Amino acid sequence: MLEKLNELERKALQQIKEINEIGQLNDLRVKLLGRKGELTQLLRGLKDLSADQRAEVGRVANELKERVENMLQQRNEELQKQVLNERLEAETIDVTLPGIPLLRGGKHPLTQIREEIQDIFISMGFSVAEGPEVELDYYNFEALNIPKDHPARDMQDSFYIDEDVLLRTHTSPVQVRTMEAMAPQLPVKIIVPGKVYRKDDDATHSPMFHQVEGLLVDTNITFAHLKAVLMTFARKIFGEQVKVRYRPSFFPFTEPSAEMDISCVHCNGEGCRVCSHTGWLEILGAGMVHPRVLEYGGYDPEKVSGFAFGMGIERIAMLKYGVNDLRLFFDNDLRFLKQF
Ligand code: PHE
Repeated sequence: MLEKLNELERKALQQIKEINEIGQLNDLRVKLLGRKGELTQLLRGLKDLSADQRAEVGRVANELKERVENMLQQRNEELQKQVLNERLEAETIDVTLPGIPLLRGGKHPLTQIREEIQDIFISMGFSVAEGPEVELDYYNFEALNIPKDHPARDMQDSFYIDEDVLLRTHTSPVQVRTMEAMAPQLPVKIIVPGKVYRKDDDATHSPMFHQVEGLLVDTNITFAHLKAVLMTFARKIFGEQVKVRYRPSFFPFTEPSAEMDISCVHCNGEGCRVCSHTGWLEILGAGMVHPRVLEYGGYDPEKVSGFAFGMGIERIAMLKYGVNDLRLFFDNDLRFLKQF
């Protein structure tokens, strides 16, 4: 019997060692030590032994049971540790991997150009003023010397809310609004960036676009001041080499009126497709503030004078960046926007 016990222990230890899975280890415990297990079976033979032998075998069996329990326990711990290690291994994070970069937004090209234009005029002492996009007919037309039925209204066909209210067709209404608010203080020296609206829609016209207005009113302001300010602006935004010229024009709210051209930034005035082989590009309208407009603003045209100008931001951006379709600025196509 002792021999059989020995044999059982040897086999048991061997089996325990070979097991690689916790579930199987539990099965083995039942098979060896359970109520119907091998040890219990073997000990059935106890009843055939003498009392002395029974005590001896019983003691050996108990010790054996304890050793096998210990082995099972030990193997169980080993396997648990192994499972844990495998899990840790599988779940490790490689902190040396480069992270997923956060996409950083950028300023829209029109915002960039607007800020560039603003900075140039701010450096010349202008301040930034704003006005409403939903505007009164009075400020958009009347106070700019464009009475009802004046043919100049045709050039700026607009979106009307009702008889007297419309989406402003230009930033010029802010000229009179600002003068009204400031009179009789001098100088009035503002630029007005903002959205404007017209019934236009093609490759170079959008129903909504942006302008920057300029207005300087003070004593003894002449066309020479206008030329100096706009020349400085043109050089700063397009480069020192740029040349400018003025052509006579007409706006009801300036007299005299002019349009300013710059030498083509693509061919340097040689003549190319961009400038329709003229060497020149039109970039803004300007002129001396009409006496009536000064009056509407609350200033005495006998005592003060001023100049005003207005330019389209999209147009400046298209010329500066060589963009040939205005609609690209509004499509929100990242392939386009990422280039700025
Ligand atoms: N408001 C004019 C336009 O939109 C531009 C302009 C502004 C002309 C100021 C002269 C003086 O066409």
